[in-house]
Amino acid sequence: MHKTLLLLLAGAAIAAEIKPLPAPVVTGGMPLMEAINARQSGRVYNPAHKINDQTLSEVLWVAWGIANHGKRTIPTARNTQNMGLYVLTPEGTWRYNAADNCLEKVNDKNLISLCEKQDFVKNAPLHLIYTAKDDRWGRAHVGSAYQNVYLYATSKGLNTVIRGMIDTAALTQAMDLPDGQVVIAHQTLGYAQ
Ligand SMILES: Cc1cc2nc3c(=O)[nH]c(=O)nc-3n(C[C@H](O)[C@H](O)[C@H](O)COP(=O)(O)O)c2cc1C
Repeated sequence: MHKTLLLLLAGAAIAAEIKPLPAPVVTGGMPLMEAINARQSGRVYNPAHKINDQTLSEVLWVAWGIANHGKRTIPTARNTQNMGLYVLTPEGTWRYNAADNCLEKVNDKNLISLCEKQDFVKNAPLHLIYTAKDDRWGRAHVGSAYQNVYLYATSKGLNTVIRGMIDTAALTQAMDLPDGQVVIAHQTLGYAQ
């Protein structure tokens, strides 16, 4: 077969690897003031207690989803909306597509090892990676997103911690990020028991 056609077919196969997510439930939960009052970092995870797709969908939505009024769940400077949110799994790296409420596989690499500078990390069933432009407001956008995840986790009895102790340069390179994006932070989630 012609080499170009093979490449096109390979590209189509990668693009087709999509994990649809259930619609997030965007009502209820702990009252906001109680969640803020209870928020804290949690580093104890039971690796056997997996996070189901409903919870995964809601974690992604609070961080970087699109609300019913059509805007993102977090503000961005001049509405640039140029943050990226990824899920690392042993089977590969997935990019959150908020508009289509799905995860798109971007590679088959297990990049969790590039985040494992602390022992508890290996026990976490969910690994988020935040990316942004390395500009004035990129890190501020990530901060808004991870705080939303902290509050959601508090509301749902999940432990979470945002982490900067990762190999950001190696991750940025390995993830083939688009458009000048760099890896900013890693966030682990899981249940203590
Ligand atoms: C930008 C940032 C980077 C952080 N990096 C790490 C990290 O690499 N590892 C870790 O265990 N905690 C990390 N933390 C969590 C802090 O240690 C934690 O927020 C702080 O000790 C206060 O505890 P609290 O979140 O329970 O209030 C980080 C927090 C922030 C905001």
